[in-house]
Amino acid sequence: MDQMRRRRQRIVLCWVLATLPVSNAGCESTVSTGADASTTKGAIPNGEVAGAKGIVLSTASHSASPEASSAIREVAGAKAVVSTRGNAYPEDNDAGSARPKAIVSSCGDTVHKAVSETLSPNFYALSCPSVELAVRDVVRSASTLDSTIPGKLLRMLFHDCFVEGCDASVMIEGNGTERTDPANLSLGGFNVIDAAKRLLEVVCPATVSCSDILVLAARDAVTFTGGPSVPVSLGRRDGLVSLASNVRANIIDTGFSVDAMARSFSAKGLTLDDLVTLSGGHTIGSAHCTTFGERFRVDANGSTVPVDAAMNADYAGELIRTCSAVNGTVSSTAAVDCDEGSASRFDNAYFVNLLAGRGLLRTDAVLVQNATTRAAVEAFARSEESFFASWAASFARLTSLGVKTGADGEVRRLCSRVNG
Ligand SMILES: *[C@@H]1O[C@H](CO)[C@@H](O)[C@H](O)[C@H]1NC(C)=O
Ligand SMILES: *[C@@H]1O[C@H](CO)[C@@H](O)[C@H](O)[C@H]1NC(C)=O
Ligand SMILES: *[C@@H]1O[C@H](CO)[C@@H](O)[C@H](O)[C@H]1NC(C)=O
Ligand SMILES: *[C@@H]1O[C@H](CO)[C@@H](O)[C@H](O)[C@H]1NC(C)=O
Ligand SMILES: *[C@@H]1O[C@H](CO)[C@@H](O)[C@H](O)[C@H]1NC(C)=O
Repeated sequence: MDQMRRRRQRIVLCWVLATLPVSNAGCESTVSTGADASTTKGAIPNGEVAGAKGIVLSTASHSASPEASSAIREVAGAKAVVSTRGNAYPEDNDAGSARPKAIVSSCGDTVHKAVSETLSPNFYALSCPSVELAVRDVVRSASTLDSTIPGKLLRMLFHDCFVEGCDASVMIEGNGTERTDPANLSLGGFNVIDAAKRLLEVVCPATVSCSDILVLAARDAVTFTGGPSVPVSLGRRDGLVSLASNVRANIIDTGFSVDAMARSFSAKGLTLDDLVTLSGGHTIGSAHCTTFGERFRVDANGSTVPVDAAMNADYAGELIRTCSAVNGTVSSTAAVDCDEGSASRFDNAYFVNLLAGRGLLRTDAVLVQNATTRAAVEAFARSEESFFASWAASFARLTSLGVKTGADGEVRRLCSRVNG
């Protein structure tokens, strides 16, 4: 039991969006996910596959209503979908009476929506022009109420895109879905995406995918905390498959070396620069003590000391004080800011801290131990502008991973389940 827990704790997805809110302890931000149940991180023990069964969701991509089935036509050589009316939804969702009955349709009765094979910044220009504004408003108010939200949104995006592509598969509930992997303990912010989705279903029903909402929300979370507002391309469709067994194989453990992280990134077509840049997502958020407990050991005299001699001694002392529970055990509930001194600001202080031996997770600290990644860390520490410019490019690559377009996938009505 203990051993399993420890293994679990070692896997930190901090990577996955280290920005987690403190409550969810565990550098939930981008790259690594440290998750254990009590902590917030999404640690996924190697080789352990939770609920391997998973659910392969129905591949029926459109509702069976006559309206819907007649809605798919070929238009001008391109597949187009004639949208169903706002009231065409069967009463199959959980919103019940809370679901707005009146549909404010900006789309008229029949709208021809081109099904594009590529992403585009203007994807919703005609079908839902207010999409960016709507998501930004929801993210802003949620983040104002709860400062942990921006980190959580960023982390959720990483988890989504690294597992099965950016298709909101991370949001699907049910036995054996990605959400049932222990990494789910470090995930949060689902309610924010759900709220944006509800709003958009009123304004432009059955139009905006959950995967696009998540990408926009993560972009806006960065902006809200002082980072760059980067343009994003839209038109992703939501996936039909969500398997817990896909999670561990794709997510970065907080114990990973640079080489292991590089392999994982490279398998997705991402570079070492992307690794350093996206690790910069840890500029916001916090991590549970259990996600970096492995960075300390007890010496012959019974004192807790850092394993890595390069760790700043004062910083090590602070971490030990914060995380000490009883008799040398690590507190399972305490959390520490991933970017000491500036965890609510999306800035380049994370890189400055790394160079000073104040990286929190092992996956952070090792970035200064490889010549190539260290050079990038130094460049970003010197120039926030260069970090922000690189962020824009890496964010675009991250959010392009495994996207479904055209006739693939669907536009989910509820982000937590496939339309079926
Ligand atoms: C999950 O599995 C349990 C036990 O097999 C079952 O009772 C439950 O209905 C399932 N839930 C869903 C959402 O399929
Ligand atoms: C998270 O994972 C645990 C363990 O597998 C599971 O019991 C729980 O239901 C999951 N939470 C969600 C929201 O799926
Ligand atoms: C840095 O990491 C990359 C990726 O694993 C590796 O190819 C390279 O050899 C490493 N550089 C050094 C100096 O260790
Ligand atoms: C343990 O404490 C003794 C006496 O203070 C000291 O000489 C020794 O170096 C310490 N050992 C370690 C491993 O720190
Ligand atoms: C802590 O260690 C001391 C001495 O070994 C022991 O007496 C005590 O019961 C331990 N406390 C807990 C909570 O484990």
